[in-house]
This record gives sequence, C-alpha cells and structure tokens, in this order.
Amino acid sequence: MDNKTLVKEALEAREMAYIPYSGFAVGAALLTKDGKIYRGCNIENAAFGPTNCAERTAFFKAVSEGEREFAAIAIVGGPKGKPPVDFCYPCGVCRQVMAEFCSDDFIVLIGKSEDEIREHKLSDILPFTFREPDLHK
Ligand code: THU
Repeated sequence: MDNKTLVKEALEAREMAYIPYSGFAVGAALLTKDGKIYRGCNIENAAFGPTNCAERTAFFKAVSEGEREFAAIAIVGGPKGKPPVDFCYPCGVCRQVMAEFCSDDFIVLIGKSEDEIREHKLSDILPFTFREPDLHK
C-alpha cells in the first residue's frame, strides 16, 4: 500500500465528517498489517464533549472488528467544503490511543493532498510514551 493511496482513502473518509459545530472536517484511513483499511471521520455532538476525532473513529471501528495489528494511518483535515489548506496533526488523545495499539515504528502520514504527504513514526510525534508496562514500574 503506497502513501498516496492511503491519503486518498483519508480524503474520501473526510467527506463523511459530521461537523455541524466546528465546520472542520477530518478524515483518517487506518491500515492493518494484513492490508485492510478502516476509514474514520470526526463525529461531533451538541454537548461537545462526546465528539470523536477521525483517528479514534478509525481505531475503534478496527479494534471492535478484532483488529490488533496496525501498520500506518493517514490523516487529512481542514475547513469543510474545500481541500485541506494545511497539514492536520492528530490531537494528544488520538496519539495516546495510537500508542495503546501501535509500536514506536507505526507510520503516521499527514496529508495536505495526495501529492503533499509528511511521514512520521509514532515515536516522533509522541515521545516518552506511557504504555501498559509503565503501570508496573
Ligand atoms: N479533530 C479530529 O478529528 N482529529 C484531530 O486530530 C484534531 C481534531 C476534530 C475534532 C472536532 O470535530 C474538529 O476536528 C475541531 O476540533
């Protein structure tokens, strides 16, 4: 699976964003180690707190279907109705959810378009990670 294809999936996922409050549309495409893709969009709520980010939507869909092994995620976001104007990085909560299921070498692709893609490792965007083993130290 090439980076461009995964970002294209994220751009398509972004079309489904439910964003009546912020108008900020985010799409994610999560790639499993065996090549399946789970899409996610942000889903907002009038009570604000229950809003779910696109990345977590993708992870929770995948994990609830039994997936546990992930290779990469592509993320795109920006004001609705036009292509992303900038790179959209995942929030801290989503980074922590990634850390629960992914190792340091998990690939995080941030797309502005299919042709403008930044590639990071999870450990680059979430250093000094807190994971399950830390509970026993
Ligand atoms: N959002 C995401 O979906 N992912 C992120 O990583 C950053 C923020 C959403 C949440 C909310 O619906 C909107 O973007 C504005 O914060």
